[in-house]
Amino acid sequence: METIEELNKKFKNSSPEEVLEYFLSKNNNIALSSSFGAEDQVLTHMMLKIKNDANIFTLDTGRLPYETYDVMDRTNLKYNIKVNVFFPNSDNVEKLYQKQGINGFYESVENRKNCCFVRKLEPLKRALENVDIWVTGLRAEQSITRKDMQMFEYDESNDLIKLNPLINFTEKQVWDYILKNNVPFNKLHSQGYPSIGCAPCTRAIKEDEDIRSGRWWWENPEHKECGLHQK
Ligand code: ADX
Ligand code: SF4
Repeated sequence: METIEELNKKFKNSSPEEVLEYFLSKNNNIALSSSFGAEDQVLTHMMLKIKNDANIFTLDTGRLPYETYDVMDRTNLKYNIKVNVFFPNSDNVEKLYQKQGINGFYESVENRKNCCFVRKLEPLKRALENVDIWVTGLRAEQSITRKDMQMFEYDESNDLIKLNPLINFTEKQVWDYILKNNVPFNKLHSQGYPSIGCAPCTRAIKEDEDIRSGRWWWENPEHKECGLHQK
């Protein structure tokens, strides 16, 4: 396999579909992590069109909004699939609750990270156990923490290649694709939620606000990653 630098060079001018096709046709250990957000829905559609049993998984933190379960259901029905679901380890959730209560994440960045670790990072580790290429819906224009990201990255914590096919897509490109291809989307996107995570940690934003400002809105922008996407 080429180095990350070589891969970024090789696919510099390729469309997301071309990159996905290249890897899906030759590698079985490729998986998309989906939060059922707009970008992930685009990638789900693209991947299933190329390979109807492509590996798509989600991390069900136990704190997701109803609308996310609704789009999960509509996605499974439309494509006749069952997205793989990874739940947090129940012992860990019980200990977390004893330590910081049910909504302790509002009290400090440390508590918030503990919760994200138990509900997202540990399950992610399990989800990625046999995966060589991890596909995500990250886009560079989503936030200051993502502006320098490349299509291919090395993910140190999971020791694998991370592939971000939509890294250079604009929000408009995402929505054009969704509407043109009749892709199911989370209804919260029509209610002022461009970026959707867990219910207690996501809120609607006003039109002039930054697209990720509704996520962990009580924290500073530089803290606003849950650890899924830190190098
Ligand atoms: S987050 O780190 O702040 O939560 P964001 O919501 O922007 O991330 O999503 C970025 C990418 O992370 C998604 O495109 C998806 O690949 C992955 N991701 C985020 N949340 C989940 C989840 N609950 N399950 C699976 N993948 C997720
Ligand atoms: Fe916990 Fe909020 Fe992180 Fe979800 S986003 S895992 S509720 S701290």
